[in-house]
This record gives sequence, structure tokens and C-alpha cells, in this order.
Amino acid sequence: MELQKVSLKDYSSLRVGGEGELVRVTTVEELREAITHARSHGKRVHVLGGGTNSYFGEDLSAFLFIKLALLGKTLGDNGELELGASEVWDDVVMWAVEQGLWGIENLSYIPGTVGAAPVQNIGAYGVELKDVFVSLSALDISTLELVSFDREACRFGYRDSVFKYKDGMYIITEVKLALSKSPRPVLLYKPLDTLTEAHDLTPQTVRDLVISTRQAKLPDWYDHPNAGSFFKNPIVDEETSEYLATQYEAMPLIEVEEGYKIPAGWLIEHVAHMKGVRTGDLGTWPAQALVIVNYGEATADDVDAFAEDIRSVVREKTGILLEQEVNRVG
Ligand code: EPU
Repeated sequence: MELQKVSLKDYSSLRVGGEGELVRVTTVEELREAITHARSHGKRVHVLGGGTNSYFGEDLSAFLFIKLALLGKTLGDNGELELGASEVWDDVVMWAVEQGLWGIENLSYIPGTVGAAPVQNIGAYGVELKDVFVSLSALDISTLELVSFDREACRFGYRDSVFKYKDGMYIITEVKLALSKSPRPVLLYKPLDTLTEAHDLTPQTVRDLVISTRQAKLPDWYDHPNAGSFFKNPIVDEETSEYLATQYEAMPLIEVEEGYKIPAGWLIEHVAHMKGVRTGDLGTWPAQALVIVNYGEATADDVDAFAEDIRSVVREKTGILLEQEVNRVG
């Protein structure tokens, strides 16, 4: 097992992090060895996915970082797709769309790996991973046994799953999805609703529109380091929503199962007036205020301070507490 000293900044799309120790792993057996090694040295393991939803602290000496390469893609006759956790999510979407399979085209162009997708139940344009999810395999880091989770056991919610609460207890190794050969478009959300009347609709048509929409709003992290939506969209109860509607006439209040969802980007733009602002090396993106961009050499503490600036203005003016969607490690 070869340990390397690396800069974790290179494993974070926000490009924030200090140095840490890393081991590369290509099989479940090697993964077990790495965990055993970490344990005997009193270290916590942290598995790196695509690094597109995380930023790292400066002192990372308590961790052993694991860069997984568990690959594989098997399609069954019935549209069931078995995927290694380290497959790149959007490569899988592209491939599925090319096969004419329906189910994940709305989730096009989301950065990250397959193994990270269930952790926060990735979602966009009215589709969430849970809608196509069948089961997953994960390594229990205390017993080193592989365990299986079906959809119910994952307890999926909006950007949420059981894996957020069992932080670091399981390492996802394989994910099974059920895709469909017959058309199953979900066109409820703007701008996909413009395709409702389209003839000969294919998953590719939907994918193309999702990609152009995302490209127009979200900064490319190669040019402008970022981690996508920084906060979750808050959900408030009916009473709060009625009160907020009297205070902010134009506030979008989207009815969902749990209450009323408010776009955090709207709050940052129209309540905090912090769209496109910059403090030091950090700023909110001019075309989508929910995205925080690192314009230089920001540290994790800088990110936290900037996020707290935003959170405190929104809290002061509305009473709403924005919850972070992106994870700090270390
Ligand atoms: N809005 C503003 N100002 C802004 C941004 C948004 O007023 O600067 C308002 C607009 O009214 C807009 C509404 O917010 O209509 C919703 O904005 P958008 O469609 O961009 O979606 P979002 O709610 O900000 C969510 C996900 C995204 C996902 C999109 C598309 C969360 C936290 N974010 O963003 O996911 O791509 O919907 O469905 O749920 C991610 O998780 O990293 C991510 C990018």
C-alpha cells in the first residue's frame, strides 16, 4: 500500500484544502487493507469522490484519504444498471442516454461520482436519484463486511439520505439503478416544460436542454472553482410561508410534501442583496447567487466566514436558517 502526501485542494472543485495523506485503492480488498491501516494509526478514513461537494480544512493529519477506483457498468435486459461507485456520474448519464434509456436524463451534467449520488440524493429539474434507485452495496467500516441497502433503507429525502447521518460509517462500492426503455419523460420543471409538445422526444433532447440550461447558469469549475449549490433550498411551514408572502410579495413559495420550498438563490439575491458580491477571494456567482466561487486562495475558514455572512443576513431579515449543502472535511 503506497501512501502519498497530496494537496487536498486538488481534490476539491472549490479548490480549498491543505495537505493530507492519500492512498489509491482499486478493489474492495485493498479498501479493507487501507481501513485497517488507518485504524492502526488512529486515523479516520475519508473517501474522495469527485470532490465536487466538499472542501477541506488546513490541518488534515487526523485523516487517511482514500481515492477509490471501483469501476464497472453492467446493463441487464430489463434496464437494470449496475455501476461501480467510482464511475463518473455524467459519463454514465451520457452512456445511458446514448442507449436510449430513460430515467436519468434530467440529472445530466451533475458533477461527481456514482457513489456520491445517493449520499445527497442528487436532484435537478424534478427528478431525484431515488426515483430510479434500486439498491446499493457498501462496506461497513467497522466490520469490513459488504452490506446491501434497498431504497427504503437509504431513507432518501431532499438532498438527504441515511448516509449523511452515518457519516463515514459506510463506503458505497456499487449502485444499482432501474432505467426504462419506454419513454418516461419528466417535463414539469422549467425550461423542460417547453418540450411537452415535442414530437419524437428522446432522452438526448432532454439531456441537451438540461446541459445548455446548466451551462448558462452555473460556472464551470475548471475556470471558476465552485461546489454547485452551496446551501439547500429551505422548506418552511404554511404559517411561515403566509407571513413571508406578506413581507416579500414576489418570494417564490413552491409547495412540496413537507411544506413550502423557497429557492435559497432567491433569498440571497432579493433578500440579502448578495448576488455577485465578493469578499476577499470569495464571491457569489453573478448568474446564480446560490453558488459560491473561490476566485483565489480561499481557505476553509474563509469559506465558512463568507457563508456565515450570507446566512446571518438571511436569518436577520426572514428568520430562515440556511443549511449548508456542501461539506467541510477537517
Ligand atoms: N433565483 C434567484 N436568484 C438567483 C438564483 C435563483 O432569484 O440568483 C430564483 C429564481 O426565481 C429561480 C429559482 O430561484 O427560478 C430557482 O433557481 P434554479 O432553477 O437555478 O434552481 P435552484 O433551486 O437554485 C436547484 C438545485 C440545483 C439544480 C437546480 C435545477 C438545490 C440546492 N439546488 O437549484 O442543484 O441544478 O435546482 O433543478 O436544490 C446542486 O445541488 O449543486 C445544484 C446545482
